[in-house]
Amino acid sequence: MTHPQQQAILAAADIHKRFGALVVLDAVDFTMEADEAVGIVGPNGAGKTTLLSVLSGAFPPSSGTVSFKGGDVTTLTATQRCRLGLVRTHQVPKPFSGMTTFENVFVAASHGAGLGRDEAYEEALGSLKLCGMLSVANRRAETLGLLDRKRLELARALAARPTLLLLDEIGGGLTDGEAGELVDTIKELRRRKIGIVWIEHIVHILLQVAERLICMDAGRIIADGDPQTVMADPQVIHAYLGGGPK
Ligand SMILES: Nc1ncnc2c1ncn2[C@@H]1O[C@H](COP(=O)(O)OP(=O)(O)O)[C@@H](O)[C@H]1O
Ligand SMILES: [Mg+2]
Repeated sequence: MTHPQQQAILAAADIHKRFGALVVLDAVDFTMEADEAVGIVGPNGAGKTTLLSVLSGAFPPSSGTVSFKGGDVTTLTATQRCRLGLVRTHQVPKPFSGMTTFENVFVAASHGAGLGRDEAYEEALGSLKLCGMLSVANRRAETLGLLDRKRLELARALAARPTLLLLDEIGGGLTDGEAGELVDTIKELRRRKIGIVWIEHIVHILLQVAERLICMDAGRIIADGDPQTVMADPQVIHAYLGGGPK
């Protein structure tokens, strides 16, 4: 999938992550270009969220390097990476409670993107509109239902002005119809040339956006390529149905 004439926007090299004796990421290499939409699937506990956390800077890898836009970001904080345009959403939405929807998105625009007050205000409004959230802009975040919390996760990430957006099960727990709404928003982001890495269990939703699919199992990437080929890969089928790696 890599084209020699284009430089990788994101590259993770030989990433290991251990929690005590538990090896959660085991020699993961991952490279993508700016205009790609990459899906990540794999059974629970495969290390998908941990990989996203290492890429976004939530915590450092035990070893290995992450580079973004040609620079080594391995030791940069999540906020520093965010300001460079590398932005994530969380599997379990984490809005600031006690603040409204609008305030949550405004903070993302001012703190996450580093915008001044007026620009952050405009950016926050634009993100809320894109995510269909204007009607709940003044609701306190903790009163929102699951779909709106997922939308808010997306709106906050967008307000941080990503070049590359890392999505962690944004459709998880939603009905097909609800997840379909989020897909429409994500398709709009693709039209705006934002790169996407999207972890999702609901494969038929994921494949509406992902042009390349990665399957992880037990801390490793076991398949990487065009979605149809990856889904038909015996190792991938075994990972899902066989309850573990070969
Ligand atoms: N902070 C942590 N401390 C200890 N173990 C963790 C931590 N985060 C994740 N793990 C473990 O790492 C493994 C991979 O988790 P995760 O990356 O969340 O998988 P996935 O997102 O693919 O379901 C699991 O066994 C999980 O229990
Ligand atoms: Mg996960």
